[in-house]
Amino acid sequence: MKINWDELGFDYIKLPYRFIAHWKNGAWDSGQLTEDEYLPIHEGSTALHYGQQCFEGLKAYSRKDGKVNLFRADQNSARMNRSARRLLMPEVPEELFLGAIKQVVVANREFVPPYGTGGTLYIRPLLIGVGPNIGVHAAPEYIFTVFCMPVGAYFKGGLTPTNFIVSDYDRAAPNGTGAAKVGGNYAASLLPGEKAQERNFSDCIYLDPETHTKIEEVGSANFFGITKENEFVTPKSPSILPSITKYSLLHLAKERLGLEALEEDVPMDNLDRFKEAGACGTAAVISPIGGIQFGDDFHVFYSEKEVGPVTQQLYDELTGIQFGDKKAPAGWIITLA
Ligand code: PLP
Ligand code: COI
Repeated sequence: MKINWDELGFDYIKLPYRFIAHWKNGAWDSGQLTEDEYLPIHEGSTALHYGQQCFEGLKAYSRKDGKVNLFRADQNSARMNRSARRLLMPEVPEELFLGAIKQVVVANREFVPPYGTGGTLYIRPLLIGVGPNIGVHAAPEYIFTVFCMPVGAYFKGGLTPTNFIVSDYDRAAPNGTGAAKVGGNYAASLLPGEKAQERNFSDCIYLDPETHTKIEEVGSANFFGITKENEFVTPKSPSILPSITKYSLLHLAKERLGLEALEEDVPMDNLDRFKEAGACGTAAVISPIGGIQFGDDFHVFYSEKEVGPVTQQLYDELTGIQFGDKKAPAGWIITLA
């Protein structure tokens, strides 16, 4: 298979190997690599009927020296287990989770985009409830699987700003599953996402489900803004996904850029305080927000054409660490030979 590294989007590509483990009678087996990309599962599987499933997203990065970095994979393991607990699924031990990821990356090593292409290997761990069942109960059995593929930019602009539109829909409820990485939140986002794209926006902005006055999420990414006072601000809410990229940026903004770093409410009626804004996440990396459509108003941040200087600095710091060019805070990087 020949891959044109410079033309990668965010699309499924079948690679040779994935990992699969099974939970039955209260225990995980040790799992194994397989070449089969299909999962034959029981028709009564709770993942199919009742959305009993959760997933993760992380990346492997090619370094200049030819080795491969994983970024904060322990945090994905911890978050998957929080999602699992929320949906009454068995936790995946960190050792099994990290072992699976390492095996999958090493087995598909030739498909990690080379250093300098900007591409990365996107890794998708998935935990699903399976086995015979019909009542609204937790499943009798579970599958944990990890597959991966090379990807490029998630939002088409990459570091060029794109525009977003505020949605009337909610992706999650105030005391629902917004903070868990579960498929139901994404199913709820398909229609609003498509409506946004039909109008040529990259995706929608979700407001807080309780009052619809504050920014919560930017499609499948968290929001951040840089204020005129040089503060890094990102929403604090129990119904957004606790983004690993967001927590990394809170740290880097403070420790490396010397900004005040704050998690707080981001009311829609005070966007003027921001001189720059962006979306952040594993897939989105840092994607500058040009402007936001809200009803009849269109609010432009820094520029619709150019990335702002602080956003660029954050991007350089984050990706510098991920690709191994900058020193990482302790424990952030696992390097595979
Ligand atoms: N918010 C949502 C809804 C997401 O799907 C993601 C992607 O994982 C994020 C935020 C960003 O989280 P992370 O930085 O951990 O990838
Ligand atoms: C990620 O950033 O890893 C995501 O999960 C976003 C999206 C592809 C669901």
